Amino acid sequence: MHSLLRGKHFISTQEWTKEELNMVLDVARDLKRQFAIGIPHRLLQDKTLFMMFFEQSTRTRNSHEAGMTQLGGHAHDLTPDKMQISHGEAPKDTAKVLSRYGHGISIRNCFYGIGNKYIREVAEHSSIPIFNMQCDIYHPNQAMADLMTIQEKFSNEVKGKKVSVIWAYTRSYMKPLSVPQSQILLFPRFGMDVTLAFPEEFQLMPEIVEQAKENAAATGSKFTITHDMDEAFAGAHVVIPKSWGAQLTTTDEKESLALGEKYRDWICDERRMAMTAQNSIYLHALPADRGNEVTDAVIDGPHSVVFDAAENRLHITKALLALCMAGRP
Ligand code: CP
Repeated sequence: MHSLLRGKHFISTQEWTKEELNMVLDVARDLKRQFAIGIPHRLLQDKTLFMMFFEQSTRTRNSHEAGMTQLGGHAHDLTPDKMQISHGEAPKDTAKVLSRYGHGISIRNCFYGIGNKYIREVAEHSSIPIFNMQCDIYHPNQAMADLMTIQEKFSNEVKGKKVSVIWAYTRSYMKPLSVPQSQILLFPRFGMDVTLAFPEEFQLMPEIVEQAKENAAATGSKFTITHDMDEAFAGAHVVIPKSWGAQLTTTDEKESLALGEKYRDWICDERRMAMTAQNSIYLHALPADRGNEVTDAVIDGPHSVVFDAAENRLHITKALLALCMAGRP
């Protein structure tokens, strides 16, 4: 299995088998244990990861950079202004050059209609593995960390659990569709019953929703869509209320935020958490818009596992990097 993953690109979980995803989770749990008890695990000694960030990041940037250090390698923190990308260098030229210098390239590019295409073009011309650190369609690393967290909190008994992926109000910024899309794709493959809740204007990409339904049908799990936030909370074991933009209606940030103004009451609060199942958990990829997406009482309260999930980003990242990059001379 290890050698099968060596050199493989990680652009979406859809392109990985369940066996491969289980291997990532298994290695992540192992590296988490080693990290906790101080066992060195320099699996990527002297190896280099190039991190290309077209947007801001706290968790993804720092989990990748810290992860590479812990694995004995080094990560370059790159932004377009530090590279000739800002002068229009073609993705294939960037891919071919970085492939000569190091062992992996990770990219965040969330520009709607552009990000995933950019990553795939780099991947096509790269001879080293490409890691999607979030694009306009997918955030597979986040979804894997969420899955790992859900498995931990429910002692691996996740089949049949109601997991609600819910739009929430924000006045902060127009968030990509990639987190909820990756979650609805991944969770049904592990037997979870997904409920997707959003106001009519905040559709996800129809082809992704279709794939999510197919994933659910393949495992016999339920996939439900509602436009009622309370319905999504009722009896849920896992709630993931988080804003995303109205990209399918408008790519203008101001217009998207204005559309959300009608839905200020789409907030995760204690009233709604009281509707969930006993021992339910609250997840959010972060950064959270406190006071709009979620109240302080919930995100700082007993259901919240947001910092456990943020920590798991480190372990999932290290597992992916080690599995795909290790062994290359
Ligand atoms: N969840 C997440 O990807 O966080 P950052 O944007 O800070 O990387």
